[in-house]
Formats: sequence, structure tokens, C-alpha cells
Amino acid sequence: MSNYHFLESFTFERGLQLKNKIVMSPMTTMASFYNGMVSGDELNYYEARAGGPGMIITAVANVSASGKGFEGELSVESDEMISGLKKLATTLKSKGGKAILQIFHAGRKSNSKILRGEQPVSASAIAAEYPKASEIPRALTEDEIEEIILDFGAAVKRAIIAGFDGVELHGANTYLLQQFYSENANQRTDSWGGSRENRMKFPMAVISEVNQIIDEFANRPFILGYRISPEEIETPGIRLEDSLYFADKIKNHVDYIHLSMGSYKRTSLNDKADIIPILEKFSKVIANEVPLIGVGSVEKPREADEVLEYGADLVAIGRELLREPQWVQKAMAGDEASIRTKISPSDLAELKIPDIMQIYLKAAFNSVMHFTTDTNQVIDYQNEVAPMEGFEKKL
Ligand SMILES: Cc1cc2nc3c(=O)[nH]c(=O)nc-3n(C[C@H](O)[C@H](O)[C@H](O)COP(=O)(O)O)c2cc1C
Repeated sequence: MSNYHFLESFTFERGLQLKNKIVMSPMTTMASFYNGMVSGDELNYYEARAGGPGMIITAVANVSASGKGFEGELSVESDEMISGLKKLATTLKSKGGKAILQIFHAGRKSNSKILRGEQPVSASAIAAEYPKASEIPRALTEDEIEEIILDFGAAVKRAIIAGFDGVELHGANTYLLQQFYSENANQRTDSWGGSRENRMKFPMAVISEVNQIIDEFANRPFILGYRISPEEIETPGIRLEDSLYFADKIKNHVDYIHLSMGSYKRTSLNDKADIIPILEKFSKVIANEVPLIGVGSVEKPREADEVLEYGADLVAIGRELLREPQWVQKAMAGDEASIRTKISPSDLAELKIPDIMQIYLKAAFNSVMHFTTDTNQVIDYQNEVAPMEGFEKKL
């Protein structure tokens, strides 16, 4: 038996108890049905990983039709989705883990093909710099902004009905919540843009709406998390100081803050002279007032404990749980030698990875999956940036 600290239980202030401090990081499967309903392939994939982590965060789900970001994406935009989401929550909770639904609106990180002919929307009519040739979105009207805030609330009500233990607002990876906070995407001149306070108005309004729905409809512990990308690389764009300020402002209104980074050891991308790990900086600002989830390239059990030493309360693991669904069980049993940190692309089916996800892991994630056939294995943690962090270009 091992005695790693991440194997200890954890209780959120709202009373939700986790059997350990490992969180399965949200990972899009691309395997939902055309309308966003959960598929059997996805249930099998989650079932294979449900026994280990204390908490599993689902692939991101869109709250509005205009917020769909990719094909095969999970949806929580209508009541029709509830039956599938019930199966998903039941599967995730079947072996004692807790189930969190990640929700978002993709904003300008979508295109008219995915939106069935509709133009993407955002804070302002400014195209994203990455990926190149992103479509120019239409700036949302104030009425539409209010509607999307209500959509987030309606999505949370559905998550409560479906049996989830909480929701995570995906405020990272350059999607709509982040677009409103970013001077790069938000150049509005009304009360939703301009000063830092005004740019925070949309995320704050969503948090407030969601908390109201939780207070009104959840009759069991139900938590609200918020995911943040610490920096943008565009100019203008969010700098570390802005996201630390943001974390400080939201910390008393959410149940946890979850960073989005490719390495838990990461230091500032924009200020190379700053050598303090970002995780430590957030931990200081948060000052134990709200739990903090660290993430990024955790593969070995020792590294998960190191994330806690950097100041996090919980440790999210993404890719390694794709490669090794039994990671927590093997760490608990002290069977570290059999933890797989590399896989062959031909192992993906046995690992219950949906067929379509296999294709996209091999295409878009090839260099960060540690396939045994990788030609250029990434070994430099500082530069290991998972594409889903919102950076499409290799730094
Ligand atoms: C295939 C894949 C899909 C992802 N999808 C999402 C997503 O839906 N939402 C999100 O917040 N992050 C997403 N991410 C980012 C992960 O949650 C995580 O932050 C990142 O992979 C770094 O953690 P890791 O090094 O443990 O994989 C995705 C990552 C991968 C590899």
C-alpha cells in the first residue's frame, strides 16, 4: 500500500466528499451524437476510467446552440439531452467517484460549418489569431448576452436533474467566458467591455446565475468550479497579473478554481524572467480560501504529490488517464512499474477510446500523446503545451 498524499480524501465546503485528490481532467471525445447526445462509445470510455479518480470532469458541453465548438461535442443545450446525461452521470458515479459536467460557449472559437451556416458570435467582431484564418464573429447584442447567461443557468438545472455532483464553467482555452475578459477579443464600448471590471461582468454574471440555480434547485451538495487559462500570448491579451486578479475576484463565489496548463511546473510564457511556477502564484492569491486544482503532464505518482507541494489542493490528470485508466488503482497498490506512460496507437481500442477520438488523438495530439511511434518525443516540460489549452502554435 502506498502513502501518497493524493490518496487522502477531500471534502468541499458544500459537503461533497472525494475519496482521493485525483481529478480526471476534462477531455473532449468528439464522440457524442450529431446533436450532442451522449453515445455508447463515450459511456464505455468513461466506465473504463470511473473506478480511480475521486472526481471526473466530463468533456466540455455547450449550453447554447450558438456555442457549439466542434463536431461530436457533448451538449446540454436542451431538455432532450437529459436522458443521455443521466446515463453519463450514473456511469461516472458507478464506482464511487463524483461527476462534474464541464460547460461552455465556444464563442469565436467555432465556425459557420459547425454552426450549420450561422456566423460564430463573440464579445466583438474580431477573429481569433489562432487558428489562422478563423472566421470573423458577430458581436453579441446586449439581449443575446443576457440570453446566454440564462442558457448557462438552464444547463446547470439540467445537470442537477441528470444527477451530476457539480458543474465546471470552462473559462479557459480562449472560449467565450475568456473572450469577454480578454482585451484581445473584447473591444466593446458598452458596459460589457472597456475596463477590467467591465470585462469581468459577463463571467461574474454567469457565476451569479449559476449559483442562484444551484441554491434554488439542488437538494444535495452540488459544486461550481471555474477553469482559467493563466495567460494569453496575443497582444493585447490576458497577462498573468490579470488572471491572478480574476482568481482573487471569483474565489469567494465558486467551490474550486482549476488552472489549464500543459505542465504543472510551467512559468510565465510572456515574462521569461519570471521563474516562479504559475501554480505557486495562484496558490498564494487564493490563500486557502477556495480549493485549487493543478494540472499538466502528471505521469508518475510522485509528480501528483509534487503538484500538492506546489500549493494545489487537488491534482487533475488528462492524457495519462487515457494511457493508463487504472492509474489511481495501480498507485494505491504500489504497482508503479506497470503504469503505462507510453502507448502504441494500436492500444487505443483496448483502452476503450472511441474510434473518432482515436483519429483525432493521432492527428491533432500526436506529439503530446507519447505514442511509441512518436518521431519527436516532447521532453521539455516548459514547452509542453497541450493543444486544448488554447494554443494551437508550438511555442
Ligand atoms: C484529447 C484532449 C481533449 C481535451 N479537451 C478538453 C476539454 O474539453 N476541456 C478542457 O478544459 N480541457 C481539455 N483538454 C485539456 C486537458 O483537460 C488538460 O488540461 C491538458 O491535457 C493537460 O493535462 P495533461 O498533461 O494531464 O493531459 C483536453 C486535452 C486533451 C489531450
